[in-house]
Parts: sequence; C-alpha cells; structure tokens
Amino acid sequence: MSVLEDLETLHREAEGRLAAAHTLAEVDQVRIDYLGRKGALTAMLRGMGALPPEQRPAAGKRANEVRAALEAALERRQNEVAAEETLTRLEAERLDVTLPGRHWRLGGRHPIEIVLADARASLVGMGFEVLDSGPEVETFRYNFGVLNYPEDHPALDEQDTFYITDEVLLRTQTSGMQVRTMERRQPPLKVAVPGRCYRREVVTATHSHTFHQVEGFLVDRHVTFGDLYGTLAQFARDMFGPDTRVRLRPDYFPFTEPSADYSVTCTFCHGGGCRLCKESGWIELGGCGMIHPHVLQNAGYDTEVWNGYAFGLGVDRIAQVRYGINDIRLLAENDMQFLEQF
Ligand code: FA5
Repeated sequence: MSVLEDLETLHREAEGRLAAAHTLAEVDQVRIDYLGRKGALTAMLRGMGALPPEQRPAAGKRANEVRAALEAALERRQNEVAAEETLTRLEAERLDVTLPGRHWRLGGRHPIEIVLADARASLVGMGFEVLDSGPEVETFRYNFGVLNYPEDHPALDEQDTFYITDEVLLRTQTSGMQVRTMERRQPPLKVAVPGRCYRREVVTATHSHTFHQVEGFLVDRHVTFGDLYGTLAQFARDMFGPDTRVRLRPDYFPFTEPSADYSVTCTFCHGGGCRLCKESGWIELGGCGMIHPHVLQNAGYDTEVWNGYAFGLGVDRIAQVRYGINDIRLLAENDMQFLEQF
C-alpha cells in the first residue's frame, strides 16, 4: 500500500472516531492518538524522510493537508461536544419555576414590643428621656419605702407582693425608678422608664402576675396638673388616634397628691359602651398625679424650688385595647398562632 493510501485510511479512521466521540475527553483522546507526540499521523510525518525522494513532495504535501484537516475537524467536534455537554447539563439542572416557593417563616415583633416602641416614640416626641428599665428585683426601699406608703397599705402585704426577703422583692410597679433616678441626677428632669412588674394576683383576663408598665415623671419649676393632663392627652392621641379623649378622675396613690386614674375613650365603641369597656365607654390605663413632696424630699430635692408630675401606665392594657385582645394571658403564652397575627 502506498503512503498516500495509508494517509487516506488514517484520515478516514480519525474522522470516524471523532464522529463517535461524545465527550470532550473522548475528543481529546482522538487528538492524542493521531496528532500527539506518539500519534499515528505524527509518526507518519516523521517517517517521510525514509521515503524514496520522488515520493516525498507529494506524500509530505498530503500529510500536511491531512493534519490541517484533522486539526480543523477536532476543533469543530470539540465545539459541538461542548455545546452538547452544556445542553445536557442545563437539561439536568432544569427548574420548574411554576412550583410553589418555600415559605420562609420570618420572626415578628411581639405586641408588647410594638406598643412599647410606639410609647417610646410618643414620649421621646414630647421631650422625655427614655431610660433602661432598671432592676426587676427591687428593694423594699425604692418600691415602697421612699414612695410614702403608710405602714398599713395593702400593697405591702405578702398577699399582694412577691417578697424574696423582708428587704428584697419583685417590683410591683415601675414607680421605684422615680427616686432611683432622682438620686442619681439633679433636676430638672423628664424621664420615662418602661419595665416588667410582678404582683401576687389571681390571674384573670385583665390581670396577670407579670405585666409591663411605663413610668413617666417630670421634675421642674412650677409644674402644673395641666402639664400632666396635656402630656397624657397627647400620649393617648399618639397611641390610639387623634379623636381619643382622656379622663382623669380623683384617685389615691401614696406618692402623688393630688392623684388621678387615667382613662381613654374605648377604641372599639368610641365612648358608646361595649363589652371591652364594660359598657362604660372608658378604659383605664394607669395612674398619675403631682409627685408628693415627701418623695422629692426622699431624693434630696428642695421642694421650695422643685415640683413635678408622674404617671404609670399598663402596657399590656394598652396592647389589649389596641388589638382587641380579650385575655391578657395570651400576651405571655407566646402561642405562634396568636403572635403571627401581629
Ligand atoms: C400603679 O402601679 C402606680 N405606680 C401608677 C402611678 C405611677 C400612679 C405614677 C401615680 C404616679 P396601678 O396599680 O393602678 O398604679 O397600676 C397602673 C396600671 O398598671 C393599671 O392601670 C394597669 O393598666 C396596670 N396593671 C396593674 N396591675 C396589673 C396586673 N396585675 N396585670 C396587668 N396590668 C396591671
């Protein structure tokens, strides 16, 4: 067989193998087998020198043509196979975009936190400085002692307060933060303190052993009851809407004089009377009054110069009114179905 025929056979064989190659590795193997250092065509090209001189030019020319043709065919097949492989991969990775997506359960804010954030925003807007809530484990001195409680006041009773020792208790109100704060600062001051409180109560739909209050108090020169009223009226409008009205009725707290209870028009019946407000049209949120001179004196303030007001509001009560939560216990149980509504 002549060299030229050998070249044609080799060319056909190589083209056949290329057509049968379906991966890039197989294509590369064809290149190695024919054009590699030890490849069949490379060997033939090397053998040209051994041919009789008259055959060399034609055989050399044809061998170079076959090499060029093979190189071109290799490149073409390589591109085809690469495209085939991409297609196969895309097919395997195909996404069904019509499948319903996975539901990511995001956390939400607790209703107490929402109310507290709004209360903070309202009070800051009126110039209050919002302080850290202070200790929940409080001393008798700050919770009752400096707040002018008479010795026979029922709140001092173990029936109503969780005592840890005779001197240490779980605070029953945020009012303990009044003298605590005053002792550390000089007047004038305008401070709000949110915090958790505890009372030894029979748990009902509206009363719990654990609840939250926001205390607010101001000490300055010539503070009037009108200042207190204006602050609470603005707070009510911020929390429940511009039409909300406020009612202050005489009440008694040992640490304020005069004292009042603080109610707002029922957000459900707007004063007409419904089950939530027990047909009264009003919902009580807390207590307030002008700070008793004894309290200011216990903090070392000169009552000839300084006077002030204070208020303490039930945060859970505000949340109940705002969201129509008929049972306060829901606020502490952390039931997911309940919390997901906020
Ligand atoms: C006080 O606690 C006073 N410290 C408020 C105060 C502050 C008066 C400053 C004057 C000056 P009272 O016990 O009424 O007051 O509680 C205030 C509010 O806290 C109540 O109106 C109610 O909204 C909430 N509260 C009281 N006890 C509970 C309870 N067991 N569960 C849920 N909320 C409660």
